[in-house]
Amino acid sequence: MRIDILTLFPKMFTDFSSTGIFQRAIENKLVELNIYNIRDYTHDKHHIVDDYPYGGGAGMVMKPEPIFEAVESIMQPEENSKKVPVILTTPRGRLFSQEIAKELAQNERLIIICGHYEGVDERIHRNLATDEISIGDYVLSGGEPAAMVIVDAVTRLIPGVLGSEESAKDDSHSAGLLEYPQYTRPAVFRDWEVPEILLSGNHGEIAKWRREQSVLRTAERRPELLNRADLNKKEIEMVKEKYENLFKEE
Ligand code: ADE
Repeated sequence: MRIDILTLFPKMFTDFSSTGIFQRAIENKLVELNIYNIRDYTHDKHHIVDDYPYGGGAGMVMKPEPIFEAVESIMQPEENSKKVPVILTTPRGRLFSQEIAKELAQNERLIIICGHYEGVDERIHRNLATDEISIGDYVLSGGEPAAMVIVDAVTRLIPGVLGSEESAKDDSHSAGLLEYPQYTRPAVFRDWEVPEILLSGNHGEIAKWRREQSVLRTAERRPELLNRADLNKKEIEMVKEKYENLFKEE
């Protein structure tokens, strides 16, 4: 997958792209990450990328020309914005989720524009971006951390990026539930013991225990997820016993 990021702060991506699974993914040519400085697409002496909002108001707005020019110059002539998702990171966007990460991971190419200041000129929203994504209901001072969140969640779903395909399959959210508790050695640490079932070697029972823990943990921390999770009758009864009023009446 090729990912192009347009930003006013390219340095923020230096460590991000040269550490951990990301570095390996790039070395193994599973991912190509290109960082473009929006300022390089200005033509005035001061490389101005923002301006006052029409109609007044606080803050500055990102100008459309450098961003349009940057996207158009990195797109191959035969590509058009319909085929390559052009994602704008903005608190106005659709809320990012594991489902959206899976959807984006299907693409061979992504372009991500990091928004800044009070926002970007509306013509970028309407005529350039094909998707707008928010990573949560809070306001960041820039879209770069949001772009990193999206890129991280998407690239780890690309086959071969993680050491073992299994590790993404069991993640929190991949089955609509939070992940079960994980333990490693030692079996006893400061009097806290690893649950005996995990030491039993009985894989069937371990899988059952893990599933139950996932369901209970989700009920406790993110009950709203349970309405969409695929629970069997026994599991619904188990949750109902522990947590009343969790399930919405149909
Ligand atoms: N830019 C500022 N806040 C943001 C958010 N919550 N998600 C994505 N981009 C943003």
